[in-house]
Amino acid sequence: SSRIKPVILEINRLAARFFHECLKSEAGKPGMEYLTARQLSPKTIVKYGLGYAPPGWDNLRKFLRGKGFSDEQMIAAAVLSKGKNGSSYDMFRNRVIFPIIDLKKNVIGFGGRVLDDSKPKYLNSADTPVFKKSKNLFSLNFAKNHISDGRLILAEGYMDVIAVNQAGFENVVATLGTALTPEQARLISSYAKEVIIAYDSDGAGRTATNRAVGLLDEVGVQTKILNMKGAKDPDEYLKKFGVQRFKLLLDGANNVTEYQLSVIKAKYDIALSEGQAGYLTEASKYLATVQSPIEREIYAGVLAKETGVLKETILSNIASLLKRRD
Ligand code: UTP
Ligand code: MN
Ligand code: MN
Ligand code: MN
Ligand code: MN
Repeated sequence: SSRIKPVILEINRLAARFFHECLKSEAGKPGMEYLTARQLSPKTIVKYGLGYAPPGWDNLRKFLRGKGFSDEQMIAAAVLSKGKNGSSYDMFRNRVIFPIIDLKKNVIGFGGRVLDDSKPKYLNSADTPVFKKSKNLFSLNFAKNHISDGRLILAEGYMDVIAVNQAGFENVVATLGTALTPEQARLISSYAKEVIIAYDSDGAGRTATNRAVGLLDEVGVQTKILNMKGAKDPDEYLKKFGVQRFKLLLDGANNVTEYQLSVIKAKYDIALSEGQAGYLTEASKYLATVQSPIEREIYAGVLAKETGVLKETILSNIASLLKRRD
């Protein structure tokens, strides 16, 4: 399998070039229109080497056969898929293409997005001898030179990373949908001291955020969490509110406790007394899980200011929850 690696890398390199040339050609118009509608600049499209896979079952195969590669080699590179009856066909069809590039500038895989609302929205290369999805971070090849202050932004998807990068923040990577893995956390720890988690603001994003906080903590990386009110992900946030507001959001990113409390607070209407009671009950339960007594005291103070309930009352409530646990 070590002999196949250079072959796969060459296939990937040529495929990326094929997709990129397609995007720039007449046949690539649907792809170019799609990327333009998503406000990607020509410069960004070139920087990320974005492409377009035209409709049809064997455009790429024909091109690669012309370069002397066999179907078996293309299957090993996962650019060709195998059907049930033994036939094979281009994996990416009628999709915009995002090459995944490693730290040595090799193209190791691809993501492909549909141009409409059909499913699956994204296809990703299967794992190959040169690509292990759980061990790579999209755009680390760019981000690694821009972590001067030790801070890295972590997002979910291709479009988030590219939009954030285009907005001028080059210290951004994505886990590509999968929850952060221990390998990715370790990789991050060799480049960054602090990660600003900018996952989607939906339930899945929040679950993935909690998991990432734990894994990054285990490898000694501090975390802050972006609270994107009014947008579902960084790409949408930038479009709705602009670069300046996004910068403010980054600068004011919450630590984990602030973030958890804000998630709890959003569930209640604290203008009403039963909302206040619900908020205080759930927030106290959460603070009882916080290790540091200093931190508990600080946030009990914050809760007191927000609700008008005495800080001492809140602290004794937390103390009783702690006692019940021992
Ligand atoms: P999202 O569903 O949040 O998509 O998935 P997105 O990145 O916001 O996509 P746009 O803005 O609609 O284009 C986040 C990431 O999860 C992976 C992709 O890497 C995607 O960028 N994903 C998502 C898949 O691999 N397959 C899917 O079908 C959906
Ligand atoms: Mn640069
Ligand atoms: Mn998502
Ligand atoms: Mn998203
Ligand atoms: Mn999105």
